[in-house]
Amino acid sequence: MTAEARSDDPPRRGLMDRLVALCKRRGFIFQSSEIYGGINGFWDYGPLGVELKRNIKQAWWTDIVRRRDDIVGLDCSIIMNPKVWEASGHVTQFTDPMVTCRECKRHFRADRLFTVRFFREAGQPVHAEGVEAEEAAQAVEVALAKAPSKARRRLKGGYETRVYAPGAEPGPDDKSLCPGCGALDALTAPRKFNLMFETAVGAMEDTSATAYLRPETAQGIFCNYRNVLDTSRMKLPFGIAQIGKAFRNEINPRNYTFRSREFEQMEIEFFCHPAEADRWYEYWRDARFQWYVGLGLTSSKLRLRDHESDELAHYAAACADVEYDFPFGICELEGIANRTDFDLKQHQEVSGRDMAYYDDETKERFIPYVIEPSGGIDRTVLAFLCEAYCEDEAPDEKGVAQKRVVMKFHPRLAPTKVAVFPLVKKQGMPEIARGIHEAVRASGLSSFYDEKGAVGRRYRRQDEAGTPFCITVDGQTLDDQTVTVRQRDTLKQERINSSAVLDYVRQHLGGD
Ligand code: GAP
Repeated sequence: MTAEARSDDPPRRGLMDRLVALCKRRGFIFQSSEIYGGINGFWDYGPLGVELKRNIKQAWWTDIVRRRDDIVGLDCSIIMNPKVWEASGHVTQFTDPMVTCRECKRHFRADRLFTVRFFREAGQPVHAEGVEAEEAAQAVEVALAKAPSKARRRLKGGYETRVYAPGAEPGPDDKSLCPGCGALDALTAPRKFNLMFETAVGAMEDTSATAYLRPETAQGIFCNYRNVLDTSRMKLPFGIAQIGKAFRNEINPRNYTFRSREFEQMEIEFFCHPAEADRWYEYWRDARFQWYVGLGLTSSKLRLRDHESDELAHYAAACADVEYDFPFGICELEGIANRTDFDLKQHQEVSGRDMAYYDDETKERFIPYVIEPSGGIDRTVLAFLCEAYCEDEAPDEKGVAQKRVVMKFHPRLAPTKVAVFPLVKKQGMPEIARGIHEAVRASGLSSFYDEKGAVGRRYRRQDEAGTPFCITVDGQTLDDQTVTVRQRDTLKQERINSSAVLDYVRQHLGGD
């Protein structure tokens, strides 16, 4: 994937800070175990966040499993026989190169480090280049501040400093720079660090009990491919889909929930004849891109990036990433890979079970190829949060324009679909409003009832929650049974009969 960057565009960085604050304030996302100071790389979803996340998962499941004849679902255990991870290659290959700072003792990914080059000629201040330019420049300032005073004078006085992006070839004059404490040349040589979390199964704590928390949901699908084939009468081409938790002991979790140690994946393994693999790869590459567009990610912020051959994972013949332009940089949401017959062959060899498919019509026996669209749900939630966040103005009760923050979620994803308000807490308005609220809830749609404070403030609370429709019961309702519907994005208000609220909302939701 693309290097995760800190944007050097201050308004966009500020936007991220404001979004994170809103997520905490309104109950979308909390730090895990916050009362104990948190734990790096783990996050909790609050009342609004869990609804948003469930709606994303539901939209995926509906579109991928329920609306198609050629894909079935599965739900596998997180801990599997450790041989699975030997066969898949994860025990030996699922590693990141790690370095440790001898000064501050912190660990970093070697492929995300900056190298610093000191030039003798010019006398300019720190000059940074590359994707993480600003972060790197700050790190150089830290390094300079911490360097012994003689060295500092020397560096500041007679040298130009250039910082090279991760992956740049170090030259003879380059020094490593600790991103944590800024120490120069204090990093150890890289060593391989396996990202799988280990645990022990049962009471024995010897190596025979060692097991892993799955780092991807995919292997559970491969292990059940034969079971599904034998029990569901699926014929090639067909897919198996799964949503579930995955765990990776990331060296540097970062960018809010983007790179976490516990996260959820939505994965499809689509099995096909090897001769048709290229065609299905193209199909899924485009279909997955369009899925995000259809749920409201603007296509100008999305892109499909084909991997270079030296970027491909050990099992892949081709891979493309769906990437989103986050405030911290352009990063991967989902990868679509042609995994060939690598996994089924490996499991056939290590387990001894036959993974071949027999085609009754052509009388051909072969191991299918697999096309894998593999998305991260937490990253998708974060992309929809970034996309939805908007600051604009809306008139208050007196018609005076007030600044508002509004989360413009696609109605299908909005955590709460409808909010119902009585204009005032008298004349029977609360009773009518509660009746509408109950009717919406009884239909299975999420509704929120609120009678506290000025109606303008109630609207603004719902704007921050991303509720697409607010229904207000007022004096006119008592005369003609009509209510006001206020649309979140356009601020358009219209009167409809109170008995038509449910139909109106359903019509405007755009799917389940
Ligand atoms: N089965 C293939 C596979 O797992 P991957 O590219 O390593 O491929 C797939 O992961 C998706 O899982 C990524 O596109 C990303 O959305 C999500 N993902 C991976 N690591 C993650 C992490 N540390 N935090 C959050 N999401 C992650």
